[in-house]
Amino acid sequence: MTITECAVLARFLAGLKIKEWVRPEHHVRPLVAELFLTENCNLRCISCACWRERTRDELTTEEWKDVLRQLVDLRIHKVNFTGGEPLIRKDAVELMRYARDIGIRRMHLNTNAIRLTDARRAEVLDAGVRSFNVSVDGPDAASHDYIRGRQGAFELTLRHLERLIAERERHRLKIRMNFTVMKTNVAALPDIARLAQRLRVRLYLNLATDRTFLFRADAVGELAAVADERLEEALRELETVSRADARYLPRYSDLAYVRQHFGEPVQRSVPCAESQLKLMIHSRGEIGGCWGHDPRQSVREIPIANVVDSEGYRAEHARLFRKDCVGCGANYSLNLRVRPTTYLDDGLWRLHLRSLVSS
Ligand SMILES: C[S@@+](CC[C@H](N)C(=O)[O-])C[C@H]1O[C@@H](n2cnc3c(N)ncnc32)[C@H](O)[C@@H]1O
Ligand code: SF4
Ligand code: SF4
Repeated sequence: MTITECAVLARFLAGLKIKEWVRPEHHVRPLVAELFLTENCNLRCISCACWRERTRDELTTEEWKDVLRQLVDLRIHKVNFTGGEPLIRKDAVELMRYARDIGIRRMHLNTNAIRLTDARRAEVLDAGVRSFNVSVDGPDAASHDYIRGRQGAFELTLRHLERLIAERERHRLKIRMNFTVMKTNVAALPDIARLAQRLRVRLYLNLATDRTFLFRADAVGELAAVADERLEEALRELETVSRADARYLPRYSDLAYVRQHFGEPVQRSVPCAESQLKLMIHSRGEIGGCWGHDPRQSVREIPIANVVDSEGYRAEHARLFRKDCVGCGANYSLNLRVRPTTYLDDGLWRLHLRSLVSS
């Protein structure tokens, strides 16, 4: 991180603290833009709503380029390309290159990696993307392919993930393997941890929800209802794995949050930094603030800056920061990282003075 980047981050964190402790109406400007290049997909994950209905009239290449120029003017620090599956858009790499050329220095990609072939990986790296989340929802083909709705998905995703990992040192990549915890795969938590350690890639646990944008579907509600006993059993074994070797695994504080999440999705005592950090542009141009924020205005009607600076948007953001929201667990790890008590909790766990699940 450069000195300027440290200063930007420090200003953002200070803004959060002012908002939490001094002035709840204090406005924190977003640093990261999450671009849903498309809400369509080449997989059919049982936990996701993207593929259930075809989304039409998505932003064109030129419209996305205009969005990127506006983000530069807004001094957005980092752009995340996501979806749906962003790599099914023919212009995905063109947009990444354009972002780099107009001065966006940090770029991230969320992908199922099905289309992250050798040629595409080279293009994406050449365009300047240095951070990746690759979704793996099971430790073996049977469980992953069942959840992802396509036979052979595990083999392709793993092959492309392994090749990306092989490039990690050369390009100084940040790579995370995203596992979305749901009813169907909760018992596989210890095995997915072992897989992450075998691949030497950081494991992040996403938490299934049916309450937010992209995931609202009747069938998802059932999957997001993870039973306490099954979660506890899986976490107990995961804790044993982690006690033996904690490398690449979520920290104690993250797992403690996961343990609470399905019974208490809002966890209001931990304010939501995600809602302050991000600006979300949906595939048809709607301008949103976080996963639980249903946007009303579109880049097709109004400049992004006018929305971000409006009273209504700021009021919504103050509400989301206090977690007066549906609660979705998005980026809970970031929410924990900005709290000093998190480090104390993790330290106590390392000293065996804290335990995730009592035996
Ligand atoms: C919507 S996908 C978009 C990027 C890409 N298509 C992928 O699968 O990685 C982003 C993340 O959302 C996760 N996800 C899927 N269903 C979810 C749900 N019901 N609740 C929370 N996250 C979910 C996916 O597993 C993935 O890690
Ligand atoms: S989670 Fe990702 S890969 Fe799966 S259907 Fe949704 S957008 Fe597609
Ligand atoms: S927890 Fe609430 S405020 Fe945070 S991202 Fe989810 S819906 Fe938004």
